[in-house]
Amino acid sequence: MSKNFRVLAAVTLAATLAAASGCSSTRDEDSSSSGGGSSNLVGIAMPTKSLERWNNDGAYLDELLKKAGYETSLQYADNKVDQQITQIQNMINQNPKVLVIASIDGTALGPVLDKAAQQNIKVIAYDRLINSTKNVDYYATFDNYQVGKLQGEFIVDKLGLKDGKGPFNLEPFSGSSDDNNAKFFFSGAWDVLKPYVDSGKLVIPSGKKLSSNDDWKNVSIDGWTSQKAQSEMDNRLNSYYTGGKKVDVVLSPNDSLALGIEQSLESQGYKPGTDWPLITGQDADLANVKNILADKQSMTVWKDTRTLGEQVSKMTDQIIKGETVETNDTTTYNNGVKVVPSYLLPPVVVTKDDVKTKLVDSGFYTADKLGL
Ligand code: GAL
Repeated sequence: MSKNFRVLAAVTLAATLAAASGCSSTRDEDSSSSGGGSSNLVGIAMPTKSLERWNNDGAYLDELLKKAGYETSLQYADNKVDQQITQIQNMINQNPKVLVIASIDGTALGPVLDKAAQQNIKVIAYDRLINSTKNVDYYATFDNYQVGKLQGEFIVDKLGLKDGKGPFNLEPFSGSSDDNNAKFFFSGAWDVLKPYVDSGKLVIPSGKKLSSNDDWKNVSIDGWTSQKAQSEMDNRLNSYYTGGKKVDVVLSPNDSLALGIEQSLESQGYKPGTDWPLITGQDADLANVKNILADKQSMTVWKDTRTLGEQVSKMTDQIIKGETVETNDTTTYNNGVKVVPSYLLPPVVVTKDDVKTKLVDSGFYTADKLGL
């Protein structure tokens, strides 16, 4: 479905649903106002249940807001943009104070957020920026550029590229083309790796054109699905890795892609500890942490989603109480209409050596769950 058609569909959908709701109130521009909604309700829109982390994000934020005395409406949209727009419009019809939205396609929500604005409902973009609208008040996420930078630096360090080692065969991947974060992940990694591609120390046998960060969509895996990543890796291995040629390193932006890539390598006969490549990841998904312990993945960038939930719960409370809302970055995230005041949290590298100290001792996983 083309982008223009999707936005058009969004406009029509929002108009139809709003007509059904019959709400119309002017919005004041003062972002410190406590949100126009009459109820004590906070709407939480999550992208999908099929990608592991969002289940944790939604459940934990819901629990925190309830503990803080708010009613909540938590909705998952199966990675379908129209479904998310309908869910958000239905929340708006219930007149919440605040909407917390982890968008699927950050460029498709302008029309429905116009409706939220008319009711003076405040909007926090959760983890992923909402673009092309003035009707987003705050953004809370992890430092997305730093995530990629940590992946790139890990590769440089492990391959000894600074010591002139190489050449190595690299296969780069990036995230879903409709996800604003994916651009930042890729840019953070590519700013570190590209000099080595230019010097010939990193070679891309699949020949993917990545002459600048803007080319990130040339290696996108839409929807962030393991299946698509697996078939893409199968294609690359079958087409460009014949006659004994081996892939040495894979830049995978997150764990769901890494899992598909690892399944492809396994099916093509690669063996951990023998010829298994260096593979990056993100999110510390359970299956991937187990693969790290089994030497099938080299690292993951852990983003403790509990800290994001706590930050967003605090910001929601501050909005509703008319207090100053805590942010720590008011320059980085321009959504095409305005710079959205943001709160960035630190991502952390996890390898086999510190799974216990970082993921178990912090209570993110039990040792039992990881088979430790
Ligand atoms: C990104 C998110 C990542 C990863 C990915 C797929 O936006 O920041 O943590 O989960 O989506 O869900």
